Amino acid sequence: MKQKIILFASGNGTNAENICHFFEHVPKVEIAGVYTNNSSAGVIQRLESLGLQAEVFDRNAFQDGTLLSRIQCKQPTLIVLAGFLWKIGQEWVRAFPDTIVNIHPALLPKYGGKGMYGQHVHQAVKDNRETETGITIHYVNEAYDEGAIIFQKKVSLHPNDSTEDIAAKVHQLEYTHFPKVIHSLLNKDAP
Ligand code: GAR
Repeated sequence: MKQKIILFASGNGTNAENICHFFEHVPKVEIAGVYTNNSSAGVIQRLESLGLQAEVFDRNAFQDGTLLSRIQCKQPTLIVLAGFLWKIGQEWVRAFPDTIVNIHPALLPKYGGKGMYGQHVHQAVKDNRETETGITIHYVNEAYDEGAIIFQKKVSLHPNDSTEDIAAKVHQLEYTHFPKVIHSLLNKDAP
């Protein structure tokens, strides 16, 4: 039986697309669903061109158990948050222990928590004149950005780097490492 990845994304979806490309070449793994809370998210068109139909859901479906039970039926091996911005509720964490993985565009525990996503993170990193930033891949628990860390990677910053430069450096790390880390988690689970 194939291992199943479910993707959640709220925005542009470049990470989701990159993950799909990576696993196109891994026969034992399938992308079993792509979900977004944002009906105008770029991820929808990006994945359409790969033959994948992203499903849009609203706050009710996310919170009342409807979406949760649909995803339970699919028996995912991993649920991957690739730029997903809603907080994952307790019922999700309990239903999928050590199964939900998030990527954060900074070196947690720095620059995590509510409101810390995308450009807000890079702006805070720049405002604080950090000399390095990076990515954190972690399990999701009840608290924003506080689940067990699986992987981190740093990148150096130049004092003149704009927030766009910082975002580009971080995205590059994400594209290189996120699919590989997901793959290694799947291999760990394999019988
Ligand atoms: C990524 O940089 C990801 O780390 C970040 O959103 C971006 C999504 O980019 N996630 C968070 O900030 C979560 N707190 P993408 O839509 O192009 O993949």
